[in-house]
Amino acid sequence: MSDDATWVPAGVDTDQPSVARMYDYFLGGGHNFAADRHLADKVLEVIPAKDIARINRSFLRRAVRYLINEAGIRQFLDLGSGIPTVGNVHEIAQHENPDCTIVYVDNDPVAVAHGELMLQQNANATTILADLRHPKTVLGHDETLRLIDFREPTAVLMCAALHFVRDEEGPADIVAAYRDALCPDSALVMSHATHDDYPEDLARAAELYKDTKNPVTARAREQIIEFFAGFDLMPPGVVLLPLWRPDFGEIADPRRSLCYGGVGIKTI
Ligand SMILES: C[S@@+](CC[C@H](N)C(=O)[O-])C[C@H]1O[C@@H](n2cnc3c(N)ncnc32)[C@H](O)[C@@H]1O
Repeated sequence: MSDDATWVPAGVDTDQPSVARMYDYFLGGGHNFAADRHLADKVLEVIPAKDIARINRSFLRRAVRYLINEAGIRQFLDLGSGIPTVGNVHEIAQHENPDCTIVYVDNDPVAVAHGELMLQQNANATTILADLRHPKTVLGHDETLRLIDFREPTAVLMCAALHFVRDEEGPADIVAAYRDALCPDSALVMSHATHDDYPEDLARAAELYKDTKNPVTARAREQIIEFFAGFDLMPPGVVLLPLWRPDFGEIADPRRSLCYGGVGIKTI
């Protein structure tokens, strides 16, 4: 995609790298600019971000299918949903069950503009421009309430998103606010960067992300498990992403995914 693209929403600063557009670049998408690619290439010198992005999307796919087929979930609130790409949550979910409803939430205008375009003909899915750090705004948004009935089981997805929330912003309280809005049998899906296995590489990558509006806070497995407070973790628990109910085979070194993931179900 050329950099004189007409699809850029007004007011978007294409000179400042955006984590949404860098992630799009890692996944081979076309909604990114020179500044995004420049920083993304530097990240790639430090961590295998293209592999990580692909592994993360694969985890997301498996988790959504699991929730529909084994937990009976039909409603999805996807926080930090990103620029639409192959295998979006609504595609996976509505393929399994066309009645599934999906609300995408992102604070990146490019992600939201493309979500809106993609979903024009889809009555059961929508995209809202909002900050996941403000649960009241997200949960009370007209579009959220149009498609999600919180008296029915709902999955909150936080995939590769919560590591953009700093410790001082209270990530556990943010997750808890979403949890408290959910009824029993609802779910939390989370994937999250970790420095457990390659602390130096992660520190170097995190340093690069300081040039974006979304610095990264990688966390230890124990901290990520704590975010599931109030949810029962489904087997195999919080594990390196390739190890969460893999469809086939295993990659050579799951630790290189640099991310943990898990699915919890709210029982009370
Ligand atoms: C690495 S992408 C992950 C996309 C998708 N969830 C996935 O797992 O494939 C992270 C996304 O989170 C979004 N994001 C970061 N901080 C956010 C915030 N405070 N509120 C809403 N979205 C946020 C970014 O704009 C970006 O689109």
